Amino acid sequence: MNKLIIAPSILSADLANLGADVKAALDAGCDWIHFDVMDNHYVPNLTFGPDICRALRNYGITAPIDVHLMIKPVDGLIPAFAKAGATSISFHPDATSNIDATINLIKQHGCQVGVVFNPAVPLDLLSSLKGKIDLVLLMSVNPGFGGQSFMPHVLEKAQQARAILDLWQDGTRLQMDGGINKDNIAAVLKSGVDTVVAGSAIFGYPNKNYIAAVNSLRV
Ligand code: DX5
Ligand code: ZN
Repeated sequence: MNKLIIAPSILSADLANLGADVKAALDAGCDWIHFDVMDNHYVPNLTFGPDICRALRNYGITAPIDVHLMIKPVDGLIPAFAKAGATSISFHPDATSNIDATINLIKQHGCQVGVVFNPAVPLDLLSSLKGKIDLVLLMSVNPGFGGQSFMPHVLEKAQQARAILDLWQDGTRLQMDGGINKDNIAAVLKSGVDTVVAGSAIFGYPNKNYIAAVNSLRV
């Protein structure tokens, strides 16, 4: 099993002090930065572009930046995010007309590849991705906003995904995103998830006590 990775989502960060807030979360023990990109087309919200990713790199953030593209179409922005310093780029299969072409485009630009499954989407596609991807992201909320309630039915899907990834034996990570907090983290980890996205549970923690926030998730 891979080492547990905690990836705070900047969606819930103090956006007026983004660089400092991201640094504080990493200094508190977070591992990656989860960078939620929304286009007000694939999801009814609008967030960050490649320039914000570049700004974090210029600020001195060296940790992996895990870009989650909730955009459609998706291919056009992959080169820009790769150039802006993305470490991995995850996309929703229903946002592209050619999944393999999108995977290859991400790889051609030097980034790791993630494929995202929304809560109601079955894992049927997963077996065809063997050997092609680095990360599977299971949404535990419908994409679009932070601070939503966790959908427990996704835990069973995570167990199914973990069983498939264990057969692959290639280190592909199993990530979950949405509504994860101290009350459900044990169940999330028990389901076989090894990479956790948390926005409000970290950046929303009282008094910006990110050490306490991270400790609440490292059960
Ligand atoms: C949904 C976003 C959120 C975010 C996490 O599109 O992807 O899931 O990253 O937000 P919290 O942890 O506050 O649910
Ligand atoms: Zn996300």
